[in-house]
Amino acid sequence: MDETLARLTYTLAPEGTEAMISVRGLKVEFPFINRPPAVALQSLDFDIQPGEIFGLVGESGAGKTTLARSLLCLPPEPGRIVSGEIVFEGRNVLRLDPDELRRLRGRRMSMIVPNPRGELNPLQPIGAQIATMARVHLDVDRDSAREMALRMLRAVQISDPERRMGAFAHELSGGMAQRVVIAIALVCSPSFVVSDDATSGLDVTVQAQVLDLLRRLARERGSSMLFITRDIGITAHFCDRIAVMYQGNIMEIAKREEFFFRPRHPYTVMLMAAFSYNQKLRRMWSRIGPAGLATNGIGGCSYSARCPLTQKRCEIQEPALIEVAPGHFVRCHFPIAR
Ligand SMILES: Nc1ncnc2c1ncn2[C@@H]1O[C@H](COP(=O)(O)OP(=O)(O)OP(=O)(O)O)[C@@H](O)[C@H]1O
Ligand SMILES: [Mg+2]
Repeated sequence: MDETLARLTYTLAPEGTEAMISVRGLKVEFPFINRPPAVALQSLDFDIQPGEIFGLVGESGAGKTTLARSLLCLPPEPGRIVSGEIVFEGRNVLRLDPDELRRLRGRRMSMIVPNPRGELNPLQPIGAQIATMARVHLDVDRDSAREMALRMLRAVQISDPERRMGAFAHELSGGMAQRVVIAIALVCSPSFVVSDDATSGLDVTVQAQVLDLLRRLARERGSSMLFITRDIGITAHFCDRIAVMYQGNIMEIAKREEFFFRPRHPYTVMLMAAFSYNQKLRRMWSRIGPAGLATNGIGGCSYSARCPLTQKRCEIQEPALIEVAPGHFVRCHFPIAR
């Protein structure tokens, strides 16, 4: 284990606390026929602690969905996990056989995705869909599964749950369908939940309600969560710790207060500026070219082509993720001074 990795391991999982999920050196590629593969995840290292809500932000194409799905051992086709390990509850999920993986997904780990109506089965009443999840994974009888489904509908605050048990997906509003998807994901009380952009299709007031609900349920059940979003603003209300991703690399990780009060990576500051009313910062953000013009991992920092603070060294040498304050990691040769 190299020195940076050893320090990361130590700091992110202090002695005595075992991480809920521990990702080391995770690399995912998309193969092409006539050219080298595209690297979607460079080599990721991070831990999520029990009960923690871990935010992951980054612009479109950063690799967030690839990461989310890889954690459940289902990288988007034709992507493949080429190296690394994902230790969940003490076992490397990449070494499990398909049966063990199927038992794990849904029962111990689950995922909430956007477009809830597309996720639900249009031909089966929603109550039956929640109950099926409980029956398959928890080995309970039909009546207990139905009772659990009903309790879950109450927990996600669907009004008149007895009647709604028999409703079909097309009879629900978007916000309600998203609550049902959450009910399915949480009915087995998984210890780890991935939410991939799950509320982005909802209008802001419904989004706030669904987020509150999601956080409360995760806390009550003691579930850890990887909460993925393109909206850095949401993470300020929602997450305990936040990581910023850019072109398949984690650029910064810090606890929420530290992250918002003392961001150190120029990209994090630019992301915050994109959501702020600071005209000067916004002008700087919009002057910089689109993603994809970067050095593409050949030597230098992947952000150097867009970074307003770039220097010669950034184009030649790839920075490592280093700890700049306790628990605060930055991948930058010249982190912004505090
Ligand atoms: N099926 C695929 N084949 C080839 N490349 C892919 C495939 N799916 C994703 N990629 C590439 O992998 C990278 C990461 O994509 P990913 O969908 O993980 O991004 P994301 O951060 O989830 O973006 P968004 O915010 O738009 O959902 C992108 O550069 C994308 O072009
Ligand atoms: Mg995505």
